[in-house]
Amino acid sequence: MSQYVIAIDQGTTSSRAIVFDHDGNIVSAGQLEHEQIFPKAGWVEHDAMEIWNNTREVIGTALSKANLTRHDIVGVGITNQRETAVVWDKNTGVPVYNAIVWQDTRTQAIVDELAADGGVERFKQKVGLPLATYFSGTKIKWILDNVEGARAKAEAGDLLFGNTDSWVVWNLTGGTDGGVHITDVTNASRTLFMDLESLSWDEEILSIFGVPKSMMPEIKSSSEVYGTVHGSQLLRETPVAGILGDQQAATFGQAAFEKGGAKNTYGTGNFLIVNTGEEIVHSKNGLLTTVCYKLGDAKPVYALEGSIAVTGSLIQWLRDNLGMIKSAPEVEELAKTVEDNGGVYIVPAFSGLFAPYWRSDARGAIVGLTRFVNKGHIARAALEATAFQTREVLDAANADSGVDMEDLRVDGGMVANDALMQFQADILGIPVIRPKVTETTALGAAYAAGLAVGFWKDTDELATNWSEDKRWVPKMDPAERDRQMRLWKKAVTKSMDWVDDDVK
Ligand SMILES: Nc1ncnc2c1ncn2[C@@H]1O[C@H](COP(=O)(O)OP(=O)(O)OP(=O)(O)O)[C@@H](O)[C@H]1O
Ligand SMILES: [Mg+2]
Repeated sequence: MSQYVIAIDQGTTSSRAIVFDHDGNIVSAGQLEHEQIFPKAGWVEHDAMEIWNNTREVIGTALSKANLTRHDIVGVGITNQRETAVVWDKNTGVPVYNAIVWQDTRTQAIVDELAADGGVERFKQKVGLPLATYFSGTKIKWILDNVEGARAKAEAGDLLFGNTDSWVVWNLTGGTDGGVHITDVTNASRTLFMDLESLSWDEEILSIFGVPKSMMPEIKSSSEVYGTVHGSQLLRETPVAGILGDQQAATFGQAAFEKGGAKNTYGTGNFLIVNTGEEIVHSKNGLLTTVCYKLGDAKPVYALEGSIAVTGSLIQWLRDNLGMIKSAPEVEELAKTVEDNGGVYIVPAFSGLFAPYWRSDARGAIVGLTRFVNKGHIARAALEATAFQTREVLDAANADSGVDMEDLRVDGGMVANDALMQFQADILGIPVIRPKVTETTALGAAYAAGLAVGFWKDTDELATNWSEDKRWVPKMDPAERDRQMRLWKKAVTKSMDWVDDDVK
């Protein structure tokens, strides 16, 4: 009888369950989108109950499509949108507020208040992150400060916090009936509260934020048996054995296990991760320091990360807010109706600018408009924004490491876009390589779980599963590349310093 691993990928736009075989191939999958809730400008929320219900449903879809039962599944791996904060009552299992999503900027005032004493880099040496609205810590504080009764309940020990990995695992393992409240080191490294050296919650930072430690999940490795599925669930008694935040999971799924290994994921946002081995490297060029993975009792492996908030979601914005296209892939046809961007640059600073700038005072800008410009140029500029932003974080990674990357492994939904990938190779000046399995996020979580239950032996075995599907090589004249980057950087300056008292 064949055996399989199932990965749950609880993403920003959807939840997926994917069954993988021993060769790392996809056997079946289920996927459901959830509502993106925008209560006001800058606010982004999800209904955590909807997410949990979707998760259960997609597990059912994936199992039934391949005619499998829990007896065919040796382990469950979890990967998730990181930094998105859920706070729930452990006695009822009900969230006290919608999940506050990583893109949400409502906590800017909290950031400013905390940064008044010591600046935004106040905790960076310890946690690897600047103070920013992006990370979970400020969102937990916002919930405790703003949801009626929340702080008292938290102090009484009745509330639990988690990124969506913790939320899904707690529910899978029984919820109010003995659910385990845990997270892994990669997710914990996105809260602002975890000491990168000791891999434990920092009590001083927790107390500065006013967050009771009793709310925080226990920090585990990325690959070990945390518990088994409990209750009347399809996967009951199956070990839950791996957790990796989505970007670290994609790194793992791309088999970038060694120091110097790297990948770039093109999803809602873009995330470049460079494995730095057992060394904690502090960036001088606007990258984050984060945990890459930790396998059981082995030493942790660290990474540098270039996080870009808006890439694929700019295409969704063209679709949903402007109605310019009906589906994301249509953007490619529309972009092909024109020869070039017609002088237009879009800086999608919807949540401020993340790496390498970290400018929360920036907001989106479309520059270079003339009477000549049509929607084809806008579509083209939207795609190009992804490639320009990627070039900037790659430059930062090269500057930090002192060694120039020779090629770039890519994955995520946008890598289906041929024109974008060619433009990306052109703008980077190095080859861009797509693997056969582009669902690397789910694959990485499956690997973490499969390693813990002995389905795979070690990372060397996993590395043999990776294979190249397609490669784009640079064709652009270097002088043209430099000209484009110069104009892009000028456009970026136009997005800065926009937020003031009138525009929050
Ligand atoms: N052909 C395409 N051209 C450009 N963008 C595309 C194309 N197909 C999908 N996208 C974009 O890719 C994104 C989806 O990618 P992916 O499925 O990797 O993201 P995701 O995993 O759902 O994101 P998340 O994990 O954040 O929920 C969407 O934002 C969509 O706009
Ligand atoms: Mg994803």
